Amino acid sequence: MSSFLEPYSHLVDFSQRSLLISTFAIAFNPTFWNIVARREYRTRFITRAFGSAQAGCYALAVTIFSLGLLRDFLYERALRAQPSHPLLEGDLPTYAGYVLLAFGNLLVISSTWQLGITGTFLGDYFGILMDDIVTGFPFNITNAPMYYGSTMSFLGSALVYGKPAGIFLTGVVLVVYLVAIQYENPFTAGIYAKRGQQTAAISSAKKAKKVEGKKEL
Ligand SMILES: *[C@@H]1O[C@H](CO)[C@@H](O)[C@H](O)[C@H]1NC(C)=O
Repeated sequence: MSSFLEPYSHLVDFSQRSLLISTFAIAFNPTFWNIVARREYRTRFITRAFGSAQAGCYALAVTIFSLGLLRDFLYERALRAQPSHPLLEGDLPTYAGYVLLAFGNLLVISSTWQLGITGTFLGDYFGILMDDIVTGFPFNITNAPMYYGSTMSFLGSALVYGKPAGIFLTGVVLVVYLVAIQYENPFTAGIYAKRGQQTAAISSAKKAKKVEGKKEL
């Protein structure tokens, strides 16, 4: 074990392979969907494979959702192999854990409800754009309810299990999501800005036509 982790080895057992695998799975998922979605945006390879943008986006949604289930399974497996800590074993941390799990899931589920499947699972990259920016709950309390809700659920599980390693892995989740937000937001903003320009161009073309029509009258 590297010596700088030594002082924490009673909290987190860094020698467990399952911890490494869980860390990898957490980092892999957003990396995967960003690479695939940007490739779809550039080449439409999923749309072509599935015959339509809608079908392609649903296929990607099923894949991302399954990868999420696998990641959650690997996380729980990693926690089971880790030491507990007395400070996390009382009733209070357990209840706090359940509250975090409930609120985290509420954010994730309500956000999916608001955005729909294609809105949640990268439909923008398939050219399936939302008509309006969603501002209702949970988007009135955070602009990334999916990511923060998921992070809360990880922390909640860590507390329910009473495992400091879960808090460490939650830190990994948070860092990965913060990087993902930095990487994704400018890109999707660009997709919508492009549509804005196109609709502006179309409406000014229509206006020009109208003016032309009037001239002819
Ligand atoms: C967000 O919206 C929900 C549901 O409409 C509402 O109950 C809540 O008070 C709002 N929160 C904020 C911070 O505006």
